[in-house]
Amino acid sequence: MRALVTGGAGFIGSGLAHALVAQGNDVVVIDDLSTGALRNLPSGVIYPGPLDILTDAPRIDPYVASADCVFHLAGGVGVEYVLKNSVRTIAINVVGTEVMISLAAMHRKPFLLASTSEVYGNAFGPLSEGLASEETSSLTPYARSKWQAEQIALAYHARGQASVVIVRLFNVVGARQTWRYGMVLPTFVKQALQGSDITIFGRGDNRRSFIDVRDAVSSMVETMQTTAGRGEVINIGSNDSVSIAELAGRIKRAVRSTSRIVHIPYRETYRSSHLNPHERIPEISKLIALTGFRRRYTLEDSITDAVSYVSYELVPTDHRHRGAVVG
Ligand SMILES: NC(=O)c1ccc[n+]([C@@H]2O[C@H](COP(=O)([O-])OP(=O)(O)OC[C@H]3O[C@@H](n4cnc5c(N)ncnc54)[C@H](O)[C@@H]3O)[C@@H](O)[C@H]2O)c1
Repeated sequence: MRALVTGGAGFIGSGLAHALVAQGNDVVVIDDLSTGALRNLPSGVIYPGPLDILTDAPRIDPYVASADCVFHLAGGVGVEYVLKNSVRTIAINVVGTEVMISLAAMHRKPFLLASTSEVYGNAFGPLSEGLASEETSSLTPYARSKWQAEQIALAYHARGQASVVIVRLFNVVGARQTWRYGMVLPTFVKQALQGSDITIFGRGDNRRSFIDVRDAVSSMVETMQTTAGRGEVINIGSNDSVSIAELAGRIKRAVRSTSRIVHIPYRETYRSSHLNPHERIPEISKLIALTGFRRRYTLEDSITDAVSYVSYELVPTDHRHRGAVVG
């Protein structure tokens, strides 16, 4: 098959591109490189140069026409990125999704939207797909924009204009995730590698589930392949959880770091404890029923890959060797 992946130079999108290429598929990547990087792309993908889903629809259209399916992952993501680019984030996540879904609808291509566990806001787990709504949750601007993208996709599907599946991703981690936009795991890895303080906001007793990017992308491919998932919202995540303090400790041990683990009160950060629920763990029976999902990679596997990737990112550009990125 030929798959089109928006956001394919980013963390999860490039993981998806690697998996699809390894399975012998043709892959077209649409990405403006705003947070993604060319070095993330596997060899063999078709990359027509930087294209912005907000402004380049006419140039993206022929690639949608020649694809068999569209995985839509382009988005504004990461606490720091979203804070600095709040208006653009909302535009990409809402308007950009509408642009891509309208192209998929016009060419009758199945469409997968990458949404987020953040649409559950402060709802308490186990989180089943019916729970999230603007009434039950206190949503960040990022979560609200992804929620609106979901509503657009579901409306297209309900009107028979597009064949859509929505996946809500819960804390995907592993190879090619940068620390630059405030993601917790690579940030801790960077701090541990540099021997600087590993900084936990608040007590660190809030629990999160982490899924390796390889497990997340194989679930996305399988979800796309089963027509039973069309019109559905499906959680993709791990139902194991770990506290943020435990995560910091595991990373410190993995790196054999001399860093101190320090706690910073929320009032001294730009983050809000109110928007940081105590626990966020997915209910994944729907995913298991549709795809037979079983995790293949542990959190330790993801930490190993993250250490390798962040070590590479910390090497000054002109000292890097080609091919040093985890594969
Ligand atoms: N990382 C996670 O744990 C996580 C969790 C839930 C949901 N998601 C969703 O998964 C998707 C991918 O996230 P990620 O972590 O890989 O982030 P990422 O920032 O690494 O990837 C996003 C990609 O989209 C590209 N992009 C952004 N705006 C664009 C535009 N206007 N036109 C074309 N390309 C554009 C970026 O250059 C980047 O390559 C996002 O939609 C995100 O909301 C991620």
